[in-house]
Amino acid sequence: MTDARTGVLAGLKVVVSAGPTFEDIDPVRFIGNRSSGKMGFAVAAAAAERGADVQLVAGPVALPTPPGVQRIDVRSAAQMHEAVLAALPCDIYIGAAAVADYTPREVAPGKLKKQVGQDTLTLELVRTPDILAEVAAHAARPRLVVGFAAETDRVEHYARGKLAAKRVDLIAANRVGVPGSGFESDDNALTIYWDGGERALGPAPKGELARDLLDVVGRRLTGGAPGHG
Ligand code: C5P
Repeated sequence: MTDARTGVLAGLKVVVSAGPTFEDIDPVRFIGNRSSGKMGFAVAAAAAERGADVQLVAGPVALPTPPGVQRIDVRSAAQMHEAVLAALPCDIYIGAAAVADYTPREVAPGKLKKQVGQDTLTLELVRTPDILAEVAAHAARPRLVVGFAAETDRVEHYARGKLAAKRVDLIAANRVGVPGSGFESDDNALTIYWDGGERALGPAPKGELARDLLDVVGRRLTGGAPGHG
């Protein structure tokens, strides 16, 4: 077994995004999602254990910062976008955050009140920047760009679509239908897809999966086929 501090990740700069984003509607309400941040924090922790210089851009989660990791807390997709781009250049970007795809066009300055006789309320939402796609297309593109996919159906179809559309090197797709896996669970099951191959990981605790994912990342960086060896 390779010593953690002499492995391929030692000394590399790794940027990880994790957790949900919260998109404010007014001073007391927001649109969020069920991402716990556990998978991204586990990836950041595992990369730091291997001697990488890790910056973790964290959405609003109540998780402790892993040892040796530099954490940047953000709330919205716009803030995450800004923090991730500010963290470039880096060697590896791992986008594990569940970034909101849409955000309210404007944040109401005061709490929205229900109106007598008004049975419906329409919120206008606008697209957020696709951080992962932007990082992959950036002039300072990291050597390796890894995305996550949380799908409920046709997982491989959408994951492979993302590989191509976002021009990323690896997509880690959550395998659905595995008991105990998913957003809030401590365990998960992933299938990693790349151009020409795939590898199923878990079900296993997220810490173990994070280390396995980094093994795949390391092999890809050193030119090996991610699925072998
Ligand atoms: O297309 P979809 O949102 O399912 O893709 C998920 C991947 O894209 C994740 O890695 C997520 O972090 C990233 N993403 C992003 N910016 C967005 C939306 C998703 O970086 N606005």
